[in-house]
Amino acid sequence: MGSHHSLGATPGVLIIGLITGALLPACSPSELSAREVSESAQAPTNTLVVVDRPISEELGVDPQQALINLGRRLMFDVDLSRPRGVSCGMCHDPQLGWGDARPQGKGVQDNTLDSGVNYHSPDAAVAGNRFKTILTPRNTPTIYNAHIFSNLFWDGRAGDLRHQAQFPFEAGPEMNSNWVDHIIPTIEADPTYVQMFVDAFGDSTVTRARGSEAIGAYEETISVFDSPYDLGALDTLEAQGYAVFTASGCTTCHVEPFLSDDSFHNTGVPTAGVNALTGATDLGFGVRTDLTVEPNVAIDEPADYAKFKTPQLRMLAVTGPYMHNGAFATLEEVVEFYDQGGGPDLSGTGTKDVNIQPLGLAPAEKAALVAFLRTGLMGTEIK
Ligand code: HEC
Ligand code: HEC
Repeated sequence: MGSHHSLGATPGVLIIGLITGALLPACSPSELSAREVSESAQAPTNTLVVVDRPISEELGVDPQQALINLGRRLMFDVDLSRPRGVSCGMCHDPQLGWGDARPQGKGVQDNTLDSGVNYHSPDAAVAGNRFKTILTPRNTPTIYNAHIFSNLFWDGRAGDLRHQAQFPFEAGPEMNSNWVDHIIPTIEADPTYVQMFVDAFGDSTVTRARGSEAIGAYEETISVFDSPYDLGALDTLEAQGYAVFTASGCTTCHVEPFLSDDSFHNTGVPTAGVNALTGATDLGFGVRTDLTVEPNVAIDEPADYAKFKTPQLRMLAVTGPYMHNGAFATLEEVVEFYDQGGGPDLSGTGTKDVNIQPLGLAPAEKAALVAFLRTGLMGTEIK
């Protein structure tokens, strides 16, 4: 669990989450200050790096708040995508529970052009090329409480928020952009943006590491722990539902109080074997590229086939559809799924979790469980 979240208040010093040179292949050493490089050279992957931000302090700016303000702007800036028009906040929309209310995300385009040219090649700039619109292979997760996870994405291929934020910009199906060619020049052309980097980091250098850092810091504020469940204020029906929740073994994986174990399980979600985009098998955690190590490592582990991350459960009423592929539109369907003992094991390697068994719940118990999930876990967003 990200211990750095509470550490920003130390005067004159901020704790920077895992933005180490080792994690950032596109980030040349010259993009980092000497201090950051020397720190990161010693820091193992996924550890915290401490940097001074004296200039912001001298200017009278709270660097932590400046970092959050910068992250908010980056997250909602459609100009950072290619072609311009998609921001993080369009798929992770605060009005839609920080998701998109769709089974699969809708991104800018394929990472190839209509001509078949890969956008990374110089030919991509040739006039007349048009990008193809494309869906993301998986459901867009909410950002609510994503700071509790140390491995993000449904297959856990990224690290925490400050690590994850560097990837969507460059993903073809999402924002199809590039820090060096597009994002950094776009930011540097805007004096207000540059000042925001000065306020947050003490100088005007714009890097991928700094941008990801700021977005992560902003996302860490999207935190909800004031639901009736948190406040001990469940009504009668919700309290009955909570009793069903614990008696049914839900907390084995949806571990209290975060309601996730930050780990991966095969529950037999109906189309868990199928990547809806490509038609290829989506084996989740079992077949992933580990982005937290450099160079990235391709992992193929049959014992983990068809396992997906246990999501957190607060704000469920506004974060549907549910599961890694948006298989269920309603919480009633989710409860019915668990009551039947999940779905068939599509892994081919026998990975379905033994804790997923038929429950035999009575209709009143199902209704109570739905009430707990739908209203018992609804909070207000704390900013
Ligand atoms: C086209 C829609 C789209 C855009 C644009 C987009 N995302 Fe996502 N986001 C997704 C999808 C889909 C996933 C799940 C992908 C997976 O698990 O393989 C995801 C996953 C995530 C996660 C992991 C959440 C979790 O619980 O594991 C975070 C955090 C996130 N996105 C933040 C961002 C940020 C920051 C940006 C902008 C830099 C961004 N996203 C842009 C669709 C989008
Ligand atoms: C063996 C671990 C495990 C147990 C036990 C378990 N879950 Fe889950 N839960 C998961 C995983 C993993 C997912 C995501 C599966 C996927 O997307 O393929 C999930 C997804 C969900 C979701 C969808 C959340 C979202 O945002 O998409 C809900 C709701 C949920 N579980 C509720 C429950 C309830 C209620 C119980 C008890 C009846 C329960 N879970 C028992 C692991 C578990």
